[in-house]
Amino acid sequence: MVGSVGSNRPMGLDRWMGDPLLTNLISALVYVLPAYVANGAPVVLVRTVERPRPLDMGRNFIDGRRILGDGKTFEGLFGGLFSGTAIGLVVSFLLPGTFRSPLEPVTLSSGAMLGDILGSFAKRRIGISQGGPLPVVDQTGFLAAALLLAWTIFGPREWSDAFTLLLLFLVTALLHLGTNAGAYLLGLKERWY
Ligand code: CTP
Ligand code: MG
Repeated sequence: MVGSVGSNRPMGLDRWMGDPLLTNLISALVYVLPAYVANGAPVVLVRTVERPRPLDMGRNFIDGRRILGDGKTFEGLFGGLFSGTAIGLVVSFLLPGTFRSPLEPVTLSSGAMLGDILGSFAKRRIGISQGGPLPVVDQTGFLAAALLLAWTIFGPREWSDAFTLLLLFLVTALLHLGTNAGAYLLGLKERWY
C-alpha cells in the first residue's frame, strides 16, 4: 500500500507534515520568538545610543569585580523588553493561539532579559570579564530563564516534551552562534561568539 488513506499528498510530504516532532519544534520556535528577539535586539539597539548606562551603574560587587559589567545596560534591557513584546504582538496577530495571554510574550521577554543578566552576574563571580565566553550559558541561559518564568506563570505547552525541548535548546545554541557570527561580520559585535 502506497501513501496514506484519504490523502492525495505525496507520501514524503505527508510524512513531514504529519510529523509531530517537526510540528512540535516549529510550535516551540514560534512560541520562544519574543525571547529570541529580546535577547538579540540590544546588540543592535545599544549601538544607536551614545553613552549606554550600565545596569550596575559601574559598581563592583563584594568580590571587587563588577556586579554585571558594561554589557548589561538600561537601554539594552528596555529595548529588549520592548522588541520582544512587539514581536509577540505580531505573532499573536498572525498566529492566534500561540500565546494564552497578551502577557505571555511580555513574560518571555522579561525571562530572557533576566536570564541574560543572571548569566553576566555568574560570569563576573567566576572571573570571566565582560564579553568573555561561558559556553552553553551564553547561548541558552536566556531561553532557560524565559521558559521557566513563562511556565511558572502560564504552565507548560502541549509541545513541551523532553525531546522537543532538547531539540529547541540545540537549535537555539546553533542559531545564537550563527547570528552572533553574522553580527560580528557586519561589524555589530567585537567577538564572533
Ligand atoms: N546589551 C545591553 N544590555 C543588555 C543586554 C545586552 O546593552 N541588557 C548589549 C551590550 O552592548 C552587549 C551586547 O548587547 O555587549 C551583547 O550582549 P551579551 O553577549 O549578552 O553581553 P556581553 O557583552 O557578552 O557581556 P557578558 O560577558 O556580561 O555576557
Ligand atoms: Mg556575550
